[in-house]
Amino acid sequence: MDKNSNNQPEQQAHHSVYQKLDQVETRRQQLKLSFPTQATEKKIIPPKPQQQQLPILNSSRERFRAHESGKLQFSCSEIYDFTSDDLVDLGEIGRGAFGSVNKMIFKKTDKVMAVKRIRCSSVVDEKEQKRIMDLDVVMKSNDCSYIVQFYGAIFKEGDCWIAMEIMSTSLDKFYKYVCERQQERIPENILGQITVATVHALNYLKEKLKIIHRDVKPSNILLHERGDIKLCDFGISGQLIDSIAKTKDAGCRPYMAPERIDPEFSHKGYDVRSDVWSLGITLMEVATGKFPYQSKWASVFEQLYQVVQGEAPRLTRHYNGMDFSEDFCNFVNTCLIKEETNRPKYKTLLQHPFILLHEQLQPYVHPEVASYVVNTLESMANCGITQFTTDQPAIW
Ligand SMILES: Nc1ncnc2c1ncn2[C@@H]1O[C@H](COP(=O)(O)OP(=O)(O)OP(=O)(O)O)[C@@H](O)[C@H]1O
Ligand SMILES: [Mg+2]
Repeated sequence: MDKNSNNQPEQQAHHSVYQKLDQVETRRQQLKLSFPTQATEKKIIPPKPQQQQLPILNSSRERFRAHESGKLQFSCSEIYDFTSDDLVDLGEIGRGAFGSVNKMIFKKTDKVMAVKRIRCSSVVDEKEQKRIMDLDVVMKSNDCSYIVQFYGAIFKEGDCWIAMEIMSTSLDKFYKYVCERQQERIPENILGQITVATVHALNYLKEKLKIIHRDVKPSNILLHERGDIKLCDFGISGQLIDSIAKTKDAGCRPYMAPERIDPEFSHKGYDVRSDVWSLGITLMEVATGKFPYQSKWASVFEQLYQVVQGEAPRLTRHYNGMDFSEDFCNFVNTCLIKEETNRPKYKTLLQHPFILLHEQLQPYVHPEVASYVVNTLESMANCGITQFTTDQPAIW
């Protein structure tokens, strides 16, 4: 489309946005910013091209082998050496834009784990591998009960294998089943526990480990039949995805805060408040059963138009025929304050009445979360949806 031509009415209407988009592209290039391609957003993962991989492996086979073995740490006293040969693959439990997650057993102890494999041979050289393997920050995260336990990582033929605690399901699969198949909604008590767990996990990452998550979304919040709710995909996984994303073309990330989409603001660097925005979008989506913007964008242009130029989504007491408490609406709308500088950080959010209430309720509601998750998973299984069902219906 020729954006200089001004005889098409819709182009005239969007002229200022095109100007903005030009600024974005210039700024993006200056900052070397880029996001995953639309193909990866749609989770279209082409089969692994064997022919293309061979030259990389042949030219650096020895170097890649350096990290083909690693340590699995299940507790302070339970540490084992491992390679991929020590794992038995039980099947795929999930698939994302950058690889897949499989259920695997560590043969020496019969420990069942989730192993996330990220394809990164083309972007992660030996130096980067070493830096990633040295990230002891992730091991420290095992002190927080709201964060998925990390066991260890290896590189195998240029792919990174990340072994972690296996959970029962993720919030994206869960809410889609509840809202779309059961035509119900997740009770506010459960939403309260999801909120408490996620804010505490994010606060822990920032305060104790000095890291920012950067990818808060329903698929990175996991649920366990025990009633545990945990955050995943930061640290090694986050670092790798960042490295890979930098090499891809522009695309949109639905949970991204306005200040992250519009690179005019990017010089300030990433602030925890961008994760607070993503949490607001996530909560609104899982509470209402619908992504809060009208559609999933086909281009960065559309995302820029709606998120940066448009009003922030707002949850109301009576929303699409559903009732929500004043405190919950206020919490979500506080996360979704469009102006980053007015949006609170975790210290303030942790004092919010919605958090305080659900922290108090936690000892009583934890068993309720457990039985709710167990019952919903049972119902899913009765509909043929198991832990190994990776293709969930799209909501958009
Ligand atoms: N530790 C785990 N236990 C159980 N299931 C998991 C675990 N980690 C991930 N999964 C499942 O695997 C799926 C794929 O995870 P992955 O992180 O690769 O992609 P994603 O988060 O869905 O999306 P994206 O690639 O866009 O970040 C998740 O949606 C989740 O259902
Ligand atoms: Mg994930």
